[in-house]
Amino acid sequence: MTADPLPYPLRLTGTGIVLREWQPEDLTDLIALLDEPEIARWTPMPSPFDEESGKAYLKRAHQGRTSGSRIQLAITTDGGRPLGEVLLFSVNHDLREAELGYLVGHPHRRRGLASAALSTLSGYACGTLRLRRLLLRIDPANVPSTLVARRCGYWLTGEPPIVQEGPYGPTRLETWEYVDGRSATRPERQRNVAYRRYGGRR
Ligand SMILES: CC(C)(COP(=O)(O)OP(=O)(O)OC[C@H]1O[C@@H](n2cnc3c(N)ncnc32)[C@H](O)[C@@H]1OP(=O)(O)O)[C@@H](O)C(=O)NCCC(=O)NCCS
Repeated sequence: MTADPLPYPLRLTGTGIVLREWQPEDLTDLIALLDEPEIARWTPMPSPFDEESGKAYLKRAHQGRTSGSRIQLAITTDGGRPLGEVLLFSVNHDLREAELGYLVGHPHRRRGLASAALSTLSGYACGTLRLRRLLLRIDPANVPSTLVARRCGYWLTGEPPIVQEGPYGPTRLETWEYVDGRSATRPERQRNVAYRRYGGRR
């Protein structure tokens, strides 16, 4: 695979969602979305997430997009106001791998937005960008995020967790993968069903 820059600009449509580029006009909405305890807890966002943070964030997003090094799109329902964000970064062209991430603003959760956004970007990454293996890093205590991963067809790998110190104590980031064209084995499917029924209990 050639190390072509990632496409820019980009607009992707999925079930009930439109993923679009961030714009400078999104600053106020971005701050409202990101200045929130769950985002502070589970993502590397600065907290409080103020106007200065928001401007720096949009600037970095723009740089990442125009340089073609990452995909960073606002989640909307119709191309209008941003309700969250989905990203693709750390592309390894030789291994045809990349990492993805997502967040949804507090008032917009539990409506399937993160699942729709992750499915759409994963489909684009495998179908159009020809990536083969997509990765998520999730602390198992972040149950909503693990549910999104499972719903979108990602599976927990056995890789050792990445332990990081953060302002809320250590996080243990487990690696989830989506491998294009791979179907789940029977134990994996059973485990998935059990997990969805009983949450974190094993
Ligand atoms: C994780 C997050 C992105 C989920 O966004 P969302 O739009 O609410 O997720 P969805 O609506 O697509 O939910 C997917 C599944 O998780 C379930 N779910 C979501 N939040 C849940 C919660 N708080 N408790 C229980 N189940 C939850 C949904 O019911 C759905 O289950 P289903 O497949 O059985 O219907 C959101 O909670 C968030 O932004 N958290 C803070 C940032 C973060 O943790 N990002 C990920 C870092 S790894």
